[in-house]
Formats: sequence, structure tokens, C-alpha cells
Amino acid sequence: MESIKVFAPATVANVACGFDIFGFAVDAPGDEVIVRKRNDNQIIITNITGEEGKLTYDVSKNAVTVPIIKYLQKLGVTQGFEIELHKKMPLGSGLGSSSASSVAGVFAANELLGKPLIAKELLPFSMEGERIACGSAHADNVAPALLGGFVVVRSYQPLDVFKVTTPDELYVTIVHPDIEVNTKDARHILRNEVSMKNTIAQMGNVAGMIAGLMQADYNLIASSMVDFIIEPVRAILIPEFWEVKNAALEAGALGCSISGAGPSIFAFSKGKETAEKVAIAMKNSFEKVGIHGDAYVSGINQQGPKVIG
Ligand code: HSE
Repeated sequence: MESIKVFAPATVANVACGFDIFGFAVDAPGDEVIVRKRNDNQIIITNITGEEGKLTYDVSKNAVTVPIIKYLQKLGVTQGFEIELHKKMPLGSGLGSSSASSVAGVFAANELLGKPLIAKELLPFSMEGERIACGSAHADNVAPALLGGFVVVRSYQPLDVFKVTTPDELYVTIVHPDIEVNTKDARHILRNEVSMKNTIAQMGNVAGMIAGLMQADYNLIASSMVDFIIEPVRAILIPEFWEVKNAALEAGALGCSISGAGPSIFAFSKGKETAEKVAIAMKNSFEKVGIHGDAYVSGINQQGPKVIG
């Protein structure tokens, strides 16, 4: 195989109570890359679309190529590639935009080389894309983009991730308001210290979320979707956050919080019909103050990246 086209999905990180340790993949949106083998050993980006010229063609600074370069170095392979990156989601949206690019690139290169590594082994390289994009190699977007499903990062040192089964009727609504939040800034404003009281409350919810997902207990999922640590600090970065969250809950959502570092807001619902009602309620709430929001409704994407050409 000389050339391949790969889709990698957007992801919702943190999932209310699991800062830097929970994330899941959605069906859409997602990024697309086309990777072609070259006859030399150069890594080149030939085309980037969908990002209004905001991303660099410098392969040592782009989240799509850094993982490929690290991967080739680790394998000791000198194969060259040229890469087209087609962004199908906004940057700085809280949808794991850089992760989708990182995962799509390294997944495509691995396929073209005959899959010397399994998907999970591509994770450390994908995380290097995250480090380039936002200064921190967290895995809660890249791991679900790469593995699909709902993923827990149990440990960073050593890196240990596992997937959790999710109920079939669990749907997510994501609304992306037309504003940008820089992940680096959104991490910078967080406090380094957490009180014992909040740690205990958060641990209860983390455990409750996992049990709720595995047992398809929607009430337990709902009651566990409370974030005592991050949301109260970051809400300030998103105009109308509390109003949009209330609108989602009133429309029947199980819970609602910030998607990743924001500004996107996500809500879980039981059933697609409710998730669609929640989308309208959240969008309308933003519209009341003149903010346009794009809404996405999806089940949990169990597949992760896929070859599309
Ligand atoms: N866990 C990360 C954060 C996800 O909230 O900063 C954003 O990339």
C-alpha cells in the first residue's frame, strides 16, 4: 500500500469529574488525513485545509507530523511520507482537535508500514502531538481517539489506560459556541492544590461514573456528573456556561459539563431523542446572548480511527 486516507474522531475529555483521566470518542466531527509513502526519507506536509491558515507546515511543530516522526525514530525506520491534513473541526474548541490529527497521522503511517505496532502502542507517540499543541502530554483525548470508546487513564507513570463499556442508549450532545479557548490558558488558571473535602467528593463521583457506565445505571451516571475541582474555575472562560448547563438539565439531560478545556459544553442523555432536544435547548440558551453554537449529537464511538480511502 502506497497511500491511505484515515478519519480520527473528536473526543470529549474530563467528562465532568475525571480531569485528565476520562475521555470518550464521538462519531462526528473528526479529522481526515491522507498519508503517502515517498521514495526518500523526508516527512512533508503538502496541504492543510479547514483551519483558516492557523496551523504550521513545519513538521517539527505540527501535531499531525510530530507523532509520525517520533514513531519512525522509535522503530528505526527511515521511510518518508507526505501528509495532507483536512481539519473538520475547529481548533481550540474542546473537542480534541489536535488529538484527532495526531492519532490520524500516526495510525495512517502504522497502517502503511504493515501495522508493526498495535493501536495501544501508538499512544505515547500521539501524546507527543498533544505536547506540541498545548504544552502538556495528557492522554484523555488521544487515548479515546486512538482506541475508541470511553477510556480511563489509570496512570501516567507508567502509562496505563483501559476501556470501560458504555450503555447503548447513552448519547452525547456537544455544543460548540463560536468562541475560542486556548487549552494552555485553561490549564494555567487551575489551582495546584485541592482540598481534602473536594478530593473525597470527586473520588466518589469518579468511582460512581465507572460503575454507572458498566452497569448501565443512568441514575448513577447522572449523580456522578459533578465536578468539584475544575468546572467551578473554568466556567468563567465560557459566557453563559451556567445558563446553558441549566437549559440542558431542564431539557432532560443526565448531566452537563465542559468538554475538555472548553469552550464546547457536553451533556449526556438517555436516548437519541432526548439528546436532540437537549441540543436545541443548549443552542437556544447561547443564542439568547447572541452566541452561535454548532451542535453535534452522537452515540459513543467504539471504533476510533478508521481507514476511509
Ligand atoms: N484534560 C485536558 C484539560 C483536556 O482539560 O486541560 C484538554 O485537552
